[in-house]
Amino acid sequence: SKGAALVAAVAQRLTSQRRKVDEALSLFTLNQQQLQLVKSRMREGLEAGLKSKGSSVKMLPSFVYHTPDGTEYGKFLALDLGGTNFRAMLVRFKRQKSRLYHKIYTIPLEIMQGTGEELFDHLAQCVCDFLDYMGLKKARLPAGFTFSFPCEQSGVDTGTLVSWTKGFKATDCEGQDVVSMLREAIKRRNEFDLDIVALLNDTVGTMMSCAYEDPQCEIGMIAGTGSNLCYMEQLKNIEKIKEDSGITRTDTEMCINTEWGGLGDDRCLDEIITPYDAEVDIHSVNPGKQRFEKLTSGMYLGEIVRQVLLDLTRRGLLFKGNVTETLKTPGIFETKYLSQIESDRLALLQVRSILQHLGLRGTCDDSIVVKEVCGAVSRRAAQLCGAGMAAVVDKIREDRRLERLSITVGVDGALYKLHPHFSQVLKETVKVMAPQCDVTFLPSEEGSGKGAALIAAVVRQKQEM
Ligand code: GLC
Repeated sequence: SKGAALVAAVAQRLTSQRRKVDEALSLFTLNQQQLQLVKSRMREGLEAGLKSKGSSVKMLPSFVYHTPDGTEYGKFLALDLGGTNFRAMLVRFKRQKSRLYHKIYTIPLEIMQGTGEELFDHLAQCVCDFLDYMGLKKARLPAGFTFSFPCEQSGVDTGTLVSWTKGFKATDCEGQDVVSMLREAIKRRNEFDLDIVALLNDTVGTMMSCAYEDPQCEIGMIAGTGSNLCYMEQLKNIEKIKEDSGITRTDTEMCINTEWGGLGDDRCLDEIITPYDAEVDIHSVNPGKQRFEKLTSGMYLGEIVRQVLLDLTRRGLLFKGNVTETLKTPGIFETKYLSQIESDRLALLQVRSILQHLGLRGTCDDSIVVKEVCGAVSRRAAQLCGAGMAAVVDKIREDRRLERLSITVGVDGALYKLHPHFSQVLKETVKVMAPQCDVTFLPSEEGSGKGAALIAAVVRQKQEM
């Protein structure tokens, strides 16, 4: 009959649509072989970066030689610039305990993308406000400065910005010493004085703060707006700083900020990069750069999702083929929406209302597809981080000639802490890909700030010795 034929035709159309959606999603599934490839590419990147400058995995020396030993004491200021916020903190260490006061300042877009002088003047103004608030303007406290971008350091208290990442693009900063820039901005203000004793990456701060609780912590990882990792490396392996004079004879290790987000900038990941990833890269402020970060961090996952949805809609497979302005708007899918959409506790109707809130009207079937797209993209991100992590822990294990390695990773970032599945998939992947390592993940609290204060304390103690 006519009716039956119609039903059959509709059913067929649905299965063929479903097949096309599945095909798009399958671009994001990685098999064991591909994950092994990523692991070995990461390993090669780590090794190459230790040997020479200018490698895609930058492997930046931090001049931090030890994790804390618990004898740290005193009052320190910690300043933290890493994403859209600047945080000022006062940290006090006393008998293995720490107390912390902080204030958060947002950085307006026009300042993020203005001149370097404007940016650092703004930071100095925030510090000034914080010192006023705490009544510490006359104190001249030692400060640690967490600056979460790649810096080429030649000592613990100095470093030049190699290149902005994560959407920052203030002018006249790349190639400049960021500690001097902050000192000069403070001088220009002429209202207070600060003793900046340490410059560090957020991964290093995270590792330090977690090591304060757990001495097995020798790795720091951020899975947030950006993606990065640091770990304790043997000094003898860091070929590019062999001739450094500041190293004392008792030091055997140094923390290395890998800047693993740059893996693939030499195109070594092209085999796994999808057309959607390529699209996201082209429209970013730094095309061709931070390729691994663009597959794994919060700043980009939402954009990848949007590119997939856009494509599926254009092909008539979603939202009744209706390409809206909203869907064409970069940045609509913040990480927090991905986390919400993927939450298992959420009914489809709620997913639908989140989408509506974003300006995307669809059916419940559309909601299913959107949720699947988010899942595929975030799962791949977690697996890639897991493969990268496996490369790091296996390297440490082999360097120490161990059959088994037991190690803790201090970790921070919204993707790790707030996403419903990311941390689980990450852990499972590490387990499968580095079977000889027992890796414990320890979420940090106020990591990069507390870590900055800890490094300031360590530096101070060394100076006083
Ligand atoms: C970016 C930065 C890196 C930082 C990471 C996490 O990858 O280049 O320095 O650690 O984001 O914030």
